[in-house]
Amino acid sequence: MTILKRLALAAGIATALSSSALAADMTVGFSQIGSESGWRAAETSVTKQEAEKRGVNLKFADAQQKQENQIKAIRGFIAQGVDAILVAPVVATGWESVLGEAKEANIPVVLLDRGIDGPEDLYLTSVASDQVKEGRVAGEWLVKTVGDKPCNIVELQGTVGSTPAINRKKGFEEAIAGHANFKIIRSQTGDFTRSKGKEVMEGFLKAENGGKDLCAMYAHNDDMAVGGIQAIKDAGLKPGKDILVVSIDAVPDIFKAMEAGEANATVELTPNMAGPAFDVLEAFKKDGTVPPKFIITESKLYTPADDPKGEYERRKGLGY
Ligand code: AHR
Repeated sequence: MTILKRLALAAGIATALSSSALAADMTVGFSQIGSESGWRAAETSVTKQEAEKRGVNLKFADAQQKQENQIKAIRGFIAQGVDAILVAPVVATGWESVLGEAKEANIPVVLLDRGIDGPEDLYLTSVASDQVKEGRVAGEWLVKTVGDKPCNIVELQGTVGSTPAINRKKGFEEAIAGHANFKIIRSQTGDFTRSKGKEVMEGFLKAENGGKDLCAMYAHNDDMAVGGIQAIKDAGLKPGKDILVVSIDAVPDIFKAMEAGEANATVELTPNMAGPAFDVLEAFKKDGTVPPKFIITESKLYTPADDPKGEYERRKGLGY
């Protein structure tokens, strides 16, 4: 080995050591929303794995879907003097005071998977998907699939006031605008859960002649879609055929449904928001590198043509 190579190797080892030493020195508080969906469970487990891999001391707080619990947890993290805070905000509004307190204490905050309505200087960066695009991709798939036929759509919305519910609705409506044959005839929140998705879809089916005149069910996440699929089957119709099913997340169970011919399309949301978040925090702690304000993850469309069985196998061990 030449001397230059030896030096480069030594420098590489030193960098690796100092960056892992840096990660090991870091204590990060994570205020998670809860466990409303398979996607959320996967995000939690990927975040814990990423922290362990990097030697980050992660303090995890489950808010059980309540903003007040998230605010309490964040205040607790500030009091403990953590090095950084990750927060997945359950709703968009009401964060100014608590994030202002974190700023005052010089603790960088990273938003994970959902945004807030508030000044951008309250957080270092946001790692999330383009949620308007997710809705648009779902809507464009439907427009392309159905063509000129009349299409009555029912929509299962996510948690009221959350950015994915607001933005996925907006994007979908943008995609069907200008196509007079597409109409959202009913829209209600299913709170991103499987049980509420089923319950709301049962109501839609009852109110709409048993579902005979419905063309499609659009759900803001796969868990509500899976609940809705069960409701459609219970009503004696075939999901995926009599009523098209399009949703967002790409969790293993939607690929199972796709393989069975009961779901038609999903838009992927990666559960690995923590990887980019820890990269940013490590760089910021090391030399003050300021990341871009928004780190946008991909939104890929999957249909039955994309090997649902294989996609199920690839994802099933990820903590969904
Ligand atoms: O914020 C992301 C959304 O929250 C996911 O799409 C949904 O499954 C979750 O509950």
